[in-house]
Amino acid sequence: RVQPIATLTFTKTQDETIPEEFIRSENEQPGFTTFNVSPPEIPVIDLSQDQKDVVHLIAQASQEWGIFQIINHGVPIEVVDKLQSVGKIFFELPQEEKNLYAKSPGAKTIEGYGAQFSKEIEGKKTWVDHLFHNIWPPSRINYQFWPKNPPSYREAHENYAKYLKYVVDKQLIYLSLGLGLEEQVIREAVGGDELEYLLKINYYPPCPRPDLALGLIPHSDMSAITVLVPNEVQGLQVLKDDHWVDAKHIPNAFIIHIGDQIEASFFNFLWPYLMVLLTSLFNAHGLASWLEKLLYLNSGGKYLQIYINHAYIIKQGKTLGTTRYHQSIPNGYASYWCFYKSILSNGKYKSVLHRVVVNKDKTRMSWPVFCAPPEEMVVGPLPQLVNEANPSKYKTKKLKDYQYCKFNKIPQ
Ligand code: SIN
Ligand code: FE2
Repeated sequence: RVQPIATLTFTKTQDETIPEEFIRSENEQPGFTTFNVSPPEIPVIDLSQDQKDVVHLIAQASQEWGIFQIINHGVPIEVVDKLQSVGKIFFELPQEEKNLYAKSPGAKTIEGYGAQFSKEIEGKKTWVDHLFHNIWPPSRINYQFWPKNPPSYREAHENYAKYLKYVVDKQLIYLSLGLGLEEQVIREAVGGDELEYLLKINYYPPCPRPDLALGLIPHSDMSAITVLVPNEVQGLQVLKDDHWVDAKHIPNAFIIHIGDQIEASFFNFLWPYLMVLLTSLFNAHGLASWLEKLLYLNSGGKYLQIYINHAYIIKQGKTLGTTRYHQSIPNGYASYWCFYKSILSNGKYKSVLHRVVVNKDKTRMSWPVFCAPPEEMVVGPLPQLVNEANPSKYKTKKLKDYQYCKFNKIPQ
């Protein structure tokens, strides 16, 4: 007897078609790759509990998932409703009006309205329109990218930014405490008051073949953290234990993603020194390759998986994900880095790999805000520990260079 395919989420309607450039390869198609047999659920954390419990739950979720939902976050429902209603009005305007905010080709800034974001593998397209603009700090705001229609767009966004800052500061404190650090350590490490808030509005129209297309391809965010409000149409999926699982819609919840900068920055300012010390020790005694083999054997292959950046690339083939590269690590040290990262940190926070699927009848919208250090901020070894006698052994990198390499898939 033929068993039904347990992982098939959508009913295929063979008579409908979509343009070839939207059809993903089979190992990417949601119809084949969505896990819907009692999938595990992204943790939901109630912030009105005791702070000690909140910290524990957030740390645990950031380690195990790299993503969680928060409720009772303190942002009034009306503020979020307003944000969502003005965004919806904008995206439902005639195309010519939206094009007034279009990114000009070749522009340096990411801000503006557009239909495609990054270069994609094999020239495939995603089923989404978007608008990007900064919302904080005021010095980074370019109002030319803020729609004038509807007229209340600006007020709604300024108001949301004000409340959001409070939420973000709190999350960064919890993440610090969760690592046993002073409460401001992570916030300072990702830019302190200079932390920049970039809003994106995603608009995913109904798609006749949601089993074949994707709204967003698998990626991790380059931010420190991302705070996202979705509308009621589900679509976000995260990779958990090699399965794509749906982020359930929870009314009035915010979705928090741990981004690459938190995953990397905490280690950037601490572990490189240990690594320099240990790797030079091993190298000096010719033990490096021996150590590498031993680690691999002792970890049952886990170490190798981490080395190649989270098992998904090995297991699913390279079309499933864009490679994540860690900054500030010279090639020769990459393996040690990953080893120390996973062992010494006790497998702390990770950035989460996620993608978006689209819906046959409904429009999904989402409002992620990417909170990231300023582009010009250099992330790398602490200056106090680098001098003429001890030159830096690590490439320090500006965030903008990290972004450039990631977008263009250049190893760092
Ligand atoms: C993302 O920006 O990666 C997720 C967007 C969404 O949930 O729609
Ligand atoms: Fe994302």
